[in-house]
Amino acid sequence: MNDPIVRQHDVELAGVTRIYPGHVTALDGVNLTVDCGEMVAITGPSGCGKSTLLHLLGAIDIPTAGSVVVRGRNLAEIADLSWYRRQEVGLVFQFHNLLPQLTALSNVVLPMFGTHRSARQRNTRARELLVEVDLGDCEDRLPTELSGGERQRVAIARALANDPKILLADEPTGSLDSASTERFLDLLERLSRQGTTIVMVTHDSEVAARAHRIIEMRDGKVIAESAPRRAMTSRLAAAVTP
Ligand SMILES: Nc1ncnc2c1ncn2[C@@H]1O[C@H](COP(=O)(O)OP(=O)(O)O)[C@@H](O)[C@H]1O
Ligand SMILES: [Mg+2]
Repeated sequence: MNDPIVRQHDVELAGVTRIYPGHVTALDGVNLTVDCGEMVAITGPSGCGKSTLLHLLGAIDIPTAGSVVVRGRNLAEIADLSWYRRQEVGLVFQFHNLLPQLTALSNVVLPMFGTHRSARQRNTRARELLVEVDLGDCEDRLPTELSGGERQRVAIARALANDPKILLADEPTGSLDSASTERFLDLLERLSRQGTTIVMVTHDSEVAARAHRIIEMRDGKVIAESAPRRAMTSRLAAAVTP
C-alpha cells in the first residue's frame, strides 16, 4: 500500500472550542465527524454556535482550542489557507456577499481565476452552473436586478464553481421558495452521491429531513444526533439488499 494512512472521515472536529473576545463561548468542546459524501444538517436555536462551526470548517476563523481536520489535514497546519478556501470548500453563507458591480455570470466566474481553467472554460462552467440553479437567462444581470432567492442561487452556483470536496451552507434555503428549495435539495443529493461532503445549517425541519444525519446544537455543544426516517429506511434497504 502506498498510502498507509487510512482516512475514515472527511471532516473531524476534536474538542473544538471557540471563545470570542468578551468571554463569549460560541463553541464548547465540539467533537464531530462527517464521512465522505455524507450530508449533515446542523440545527439549533439562534446563537448556539452553528455559524461559528461552519466558519471553522471553512477556515475563515480558527478555534481557540481543539483541532479541525479536513481530508486528513489539520487546518492549523495548512500554510496556504486561501488555496484551501478556494479549492477545497465551497461556502454559501446567509449574507451571500455577491460583488454588486459584477453580473451573475462574473460572480460565478470569479473563484475560478487562478485555477487551471482557461477563460473560455471558466465561462462555460459558470453558464452550466447558472443553468443548474435555474438562472440560465439571468447571467447578465447585476445582483441588484435579482430577487433575494435568485441572489441566493447565484451564491450557490459560485460555491460550486471549483467542484469543492466539501460544501458548507448556512441557511441556504432561507430565501428560496418551495420549488427552488426542492431543486436545491435535489442538487445537494446529486452532489452527495458523487462524493461531495455537505454540512448545512438549517432551521427548516423539512430541509433537515433530507440529510443523512441531523446534528442538534445548544449553547455551543452538540446535544443530539439523529438519522431522519428517510435516511434510516434507505440505509436499512441497503443493508438487506444482497
Ligand atoms: N465575531 C463575534 N464576536 C463576538 N461574539 C460572536 C461573534 N460571532 C458570534 N458571536 C457569538 O457567538 C455565539 C454563537 O454565534 P453563532 O455561531 O453566530 O450562532 P448561530 O449561527 O447558531 O446563531 C453567539 O452568542 C454570538 O453572539
Ligand atoms: Mg448563524
